[in-house]
Amino acid sequence: MLKRPHHFERFQSAYLFSEIEARKAEFLKKRPEAQLVSLGIGDTKLPLPSVVVEALVRAAAELGTEEGYSGYGRTEGMNLLREALVRRFYPHLSPSEIFISDGAKSDLGRLQMIFGSKCVVAVQDPAYPVYLEGSLFQEVEGLHLLPCLPENHFLPSLPEGIDLLYLCNPNNPTGKALTFEELEAVVRCAEKNRFLIIYDGAYAAYIQDPTRYPSSIYAIEGAERVAIEVNSFSKLAGFTGVRLGWSVIPKALTFSCGGSIWKDFSRFNQLLFNGASNIAQKGGLAVLSDEGYGATQRSIALTMENAALLKAAFERAGYTVYGGKHAPYLWIHTPDIPSWELFQIFLEEKELIVTPGSGYGLSGEHFIRVSAFGKPSTIRSILERIAP
Ligand code: MLT
Repeated sequence: MLKRPHHFERFQSAYLFSEIEARKAEFLKKRPEAQLVSLGIGDTKLPLPSVVVEALVRAAAELGTEEGYSGYGRTEGMNLLREALVRRFYPHLSPSEIFISDGAKSDLGRLQMIFGSKCVVAVQDPAYPVYLEGSLFQEVEGLHLLPCLPENHFLPSLPEGIDLLYLCNPNNPTGKALTFEELEAVVRCAEKNRFLIIYDGAYAAYIQDPTRYPSSIYAIEGAERVAIEVNSFSKLAGFTGVRLGWSVIPKALTFSCGGSIWKDFSRFNQLLFNGASNIAQKGGLAVLSDEGYGATQRSIALTMENAALLKAAFERAGYTVYGGKHAPYLWIHTPDIPSWELFQIFLEEKELIVTPGSGYGLSGEHFIRVSAFGKPSTIRSILERIAP
């Protein structure tokens, strides 16, 4: 009979956001009349701009016509979309180095599967659960957790002897954005110590000052020799439900034997994935058009106004608040209360869902994460609950 892999025992019983959903359902059973508002999972709430909706509708309608129908596309995605991404974000890279995906999380999983177990991995702590749990799933040879705390400005020193570093910038959950100098130091360290950076840029669009804070790792000279960038339309354009992302795998990247990472990624991506939805990709093209991009910038500005209002409210309530300036997340220090306890207090006393920091790792204990995604009217309506 099939044996359960023994390393499964090392996982928390439920995935963080599923645990939150379960507690929410439990609470609503007791208090069905509650006016719950979620500041928990970073889920976008604003409607898509009409230019994007029209492109999605057109793409769906074409599927109902003889001339417009299309089946499987290329695994690596539509060339037009890859070219549009290069024009908008990576002018010195080639469209052939862009791989369209159905979202950053799936691509992170595929990269983990491809890099396998023969590697020593470093993960920021706290971090998006997929980096750590996905590495545990692969039973990697070594794992370093790098505490990111106010004391080190959420920027850990990097250990020697690692093969892979996960770096999320701007950071989920701490909201920290790296300056050009800070990111450059990480890239130089990767060159010197010969490790690969898996750079998660899913929140890049929230950077408010691109002259100080880089919005792609390839803004740093030489990064194409040491970094893969994983990215997504989810937070950029409200595509959390539509599902579309991309990864940049530069051709200059190699394994220690000199073999091409790009070549192996292409090969195994074809094995493991059938490409992103053709409807979603046409929506992505509309997002990257001048009109679509302008509209998404307006939605992002509204989210950042929410972040500023929430930050001020939590500060009025006496909390120390990090983040929220170049990222849609506030990272709130609660030194006297464990995070799940505070989660429960916010749920029961304020009818607000927050994310307990300990769900992102040991160094997240005594923090909660608050997401600024939401309709401005909803966010304004709950400020009183935070700071009465
Ligand atoms: C989060 O809240 O951390 C993210 O929205 C989760 C995700 O992107 O999967």
